[in-house]
Amino acid sequence: MVDLTVEFCGLKFRNPVLTAAGPPVRDSIRIKKCIEGGAGGIVTKTISVKAADPYIPRPHMAEVRGAFLNTELWSELPPEEWFNKHLREARVATKAAGIPLIVSLGYTADEISKLIPEVENYVDGIELSVHYIGVDPKPMQDSIRAAKKSGLPVFLKLSPHPGVDPVLWAKKAIEAGADGISAINSFGPVLALDLSTSIPIERVKGLPVMGGDKGYGWLSGPPLRYLAQRIIFEIAKALPNIPIIGVGGVSCGRDAVEMLMVGAWAVGVCTAAILYGPQIYGKIAKEIAEILDKLGFKSVEDVRGYTIKNWSKRWIRFKSTPPKLYTDRCNGCKLCELSCPYDAIKVINGKAKLFTEKCFGCGLCVSRCRQGALEMPL
Ligand SMILES: Cc1cc2nc3c(=O)[nH]c(=O)nc-3n(C[C@H](O)[C@H](O)[C@H](O)COP(=O)(O)O)c2cc1C
Repeated sequence: MVDLTVEFCGLKFRNPVLTAAGPPVRDSIRIKKCIEGGAGGIVTKTISVKAADPYIPRPHMAEVRGAFLNTELWSELPPEEWFNKHLREARVATKAAGIPLIVSLGYTADEISKLIPEVENYVDGIELSVHYIGVDPKPMQDSIRAAKKSGLPVFLKLSPHPGVDPVLWAKKAIEAGADGISAINSFGPVLALDLSTSIPIERVKGLPVMGGDKGYGWLSGPPLRYLAQRIIFEIAKALPNIPIIGVGGVSCGRDAVEMLMVGAWAVGVCTAAILYGPQIYGKIAKEIAEILDKLGFKSVEDVRGYTIKNWSKRWIRFKSTPPKLYTDRCNGCKLCELSCPYDAIKVINGKAKLFTEKCFGCGLCVSRCRQGALEMPL
């Protein structure tokens, strides 16, 4: 049996799959659904000193091909509603489930100082969003100091803005008193168009899917995971004992395990819960257990930072080395042949055949093969 529990900063999570700030945790009703869906811990939607409505452009959420866009800002609910209702109800529900409740707060030190006395009695930790306070680390440090007055564990949520050096920011956050890092927030701004022609729509096409004066949005979902993983990896190497909640594009157990391997202590999930519902938390946790069991890991802690520990074993070569071909596993699907730019692999009589003299060692066929019939040698 794989041990899925994780503990850091004095918080004990029943599994490493937490909610990430966004619509799935926009109020206490949805928070309860995430708990029922199996979340290992709760991070709320970001609360600030005033409601984000009426500043939220409409439309402000869209599924685009392979990704997700939003321009949602922070909670659209008045903060008083959080203080008087949602946090109290979330407190009761998380206590009953035996999981931590982390409140996401934003943004400036002044705002955080006003929010802390209203929330500190209901929560086990604070996640600080600094998405809108620029690329100078000083205001971020001031916000952390304001949050630390609560005496609660504080996680800085990093935004992958161009101009923000994640390792420098993580170090500065810890220097200012943060206990951990959440990485990362959505990336942008980006632009996507409503060019779908599959359903008839009256109005003009080729316009932004997002509303607002610019029509730009913030990217989340699967493509973000690769950026998140690089950032988590760099922070984990630089600050090995600092807990990291890895956020960005996790939608299945395999994604989560990769994130743990690069150094996350737990993962946060937002977009996948929007697209597939709150049961996704328990499903991802179950898949993590199955994968760890298959790979021979006994616990989440066991797999954490596995990539960093084994870094010296990666491929470091600059000359062509053809893949190994296990012909018995080949089903003749031709994906390898279709994609090989060097004509170095062909399916003949239903089985792949390698022409090693033509192979440039690019490795693409290995990633295209669904049967495990090709493998890059170390
Ligand atoms: C619709 C939407 C609303 C979000 N709102 C917040 C927010 O209020 N505060 C915050 O720190 N992050 C917010 N995020 C960012 C997510 O918490 C998360 O960092 C990001 O989307 C990447 O994770 P994902 O790919 O699992 O969604 C939001 C994301 C989405 C998609």
